[in-house]
Amino acid sequence: MLQQTFFFLLLFFSFFLYSCDGNVLLSADASENISFDANTRLFTARINLDSVIKTIDDRFLSLTLDTSIIRHDWAHFDTSSVKLKTLAKGLSPVYLRLGGTSCDFLIFRDTEEIGKKIDFANNDAPDWEDLEKPVTTKFNMTMFDWVYVNKFVRSVPDWLLVFDLNVLQRTNNAWDPSINASSLLHQSAAKGYCLAGLELGNEPDAFHHLLGYSIDPTVLGKDFRRLSKFRSQVPCMDQSLVIGPDVTAQTMRKRRHEQFLRNFLQEAHASLDAVTIHHYYVNGRKATADQFMDSYILDSFHDELDVAFNILEKTSPGKPLWLGETSSAFGGGSIGLSDTYIAGFMWMDKLGISARKGVKVVMRQSFYKGHYALLDFRTLDPRPDYWLSLLFKRLVGNTVLDLSINDQERKVRMYAHCTQWHRDSSYTNHSLTVYGMNLYEEDIQLKLSQFASDQELHIYKLEPRGPDGIFSQ
Ligand SMILES: *[C@@H]1O[C@H](CO)[C@@H](O)[C@H](O)[C@H]1NC(C)=O
Ligand SMILES: *[C@@H]1O[C@H](CO)[C@@H](O)[C@H](O)[C@H]1NC(C)=O
Ligand SMILES: *[C@@H]1O[C@H](CO)[C@@H](O)[C@H](O)[C@H]1NC(C)=O
Ligand SMILES: *[C@@H]1O[C@H](CO)[C@@H](O)[C@H](O)[C@H]1NC(C)=O
Repeated sequence: MLQQTFFFLLLFFSFFLYSCDGNVLLSADASENISFDANTRLFTARINLDSVIKTIDDRFLSLTLDTSIIRHDWAHFDTSSVKLKTLAKGLSPVYLRLGGTSCDFLIFRDTEEIGKKIDFANNDAPDWEDLEKPVTTKFNMTMFDWVYVNKFVRSVPDWLLVFDLNVLQRTNNAWDPSINASSLLHQSAAKGYCLAGLELGNEPDAFHHLLGYSIDPTVLGKDFRRLSKFRSQVPCMDQSLVIGPDVTAQTMRKRRHEQFLRNFLQEAHASLDAVTIHHYYVNGRKATADQFMDSYILDSFHDELDVAFNILEKTSPGKPLWLGETSSAFGGGSIGLSDTYIAGFMWMDKLGISARKGVKVVMRQSFYKGHYALLDFRTLDPRPDYWLSLLFKRLVGNTVLDLSINDQERKVRMYAHCTQWHRDSSYTNHSLTVYGMNLYEEDIQLKLSQFASDQELHIYKLEPRGPDGIFSQ
């Protein structure tokens, strides 16, 4: 029987041991045990309290909606639902990225469809699409759809919309904003819908696979320069961030993709506010439970970030790196895995590694729709990763500290930040949050010998419940 415990551990110091406002007041070194079971394996973690290694964005944990939801008349995403709004509010503040493969097949129609009502109860939309055969037919986004999503985002405190524009609307091999983007953005501005960010296209390095032809990365770079210039001429969009190019995770594995990002950035870096890559660990149709708890697979993400940061350093030093779309398994996620407790190992570890490495924003695919969604497709019930995200938002602050642990196998994976004390928090800027997981098949003992055993410690422990165990929803 598997006995992994997946825990979220919060340390709260009632004595002013360490000040997370930047001053180390005192670093205690009391060698007391936190856990007292004598038969379990012992690991020792140490947090460097002398320096801050990275700082993340307030919207570090952000969300996506896949554009394909518009094809399906918003599926069951009923924005009049109080439950949906309450769950959304729990994760504030976030960017909501509306993008994905379908964005490059979206045609904007400014028909208002006044009086339209969506029949959510009888909407037989699919929860996911077959990514082996992605839907490459065009579809309409009407003004009704656009108002629908903008009103929703604006109704949730501190949610901001990022929209992925259709890069395939081209004239003479150049992106042409006069086809739809100009009308969309000007009409949005007139309604007061100022967007937080604009993207252009989705996974352009994989267009050959999707469309049978490619767009040259230098040409795409010029498209982004055009976008940057164009948005600054639209009222209220001049502050919108220009974000891209949303390349696939393969960028980090295959030289051809790596070269794509490099060439793109050489052309476009000055026009970009954030550089986005996508990341999935495994293929949703082939994924196995073991992979979700495999420290080698979790570590592979490290290497991919290293490649991306390396390219950034050479082409666009100082530009923030974002994960523009990311989850456990691609192709809609893996049913029975991406939608259950076990998905939390990949999700929490991705958040921890991203913060340590200095990724500023991590956009989780997806808030709704797909097996990897935070909410159930029909009921909008929160899945385990929703609760993990909620705890992360409440407990984990922006200041990242260095935590080291004496585990060669890297199965005890722990991260340390200053506690989130700005929002809805009963903690102060003198608290630390340590979070992480145990991937050994038995309980372990974790020692934080820096801290005295009489310090106040709050433990948030997430464990699976019921007969399904780690496959519990
Ligand atoms: C941290 O909290 C103390 C009060 O406990 C306050 O005086 C101080 O200004 C805070 N630091 C920051 C950076 O806000
Ligand atoms: C701490 O743990 C060690 C090894 O597990 C044990 O020998 C020792 O008695 C423990 N100390 C306390 C105070 O319980
Ligand atoms: C999109 O809108 C146009 C114009 O209203 C219409 O002719 C076309 O059939 C629509 N396409 C789809 C797929 O609904
Ligand atoms: C969007 O582009 C299509 C062509 O693909 C065009 O028919 C339509 O009128 C455009 N929509 C607006 C509002 O300009």
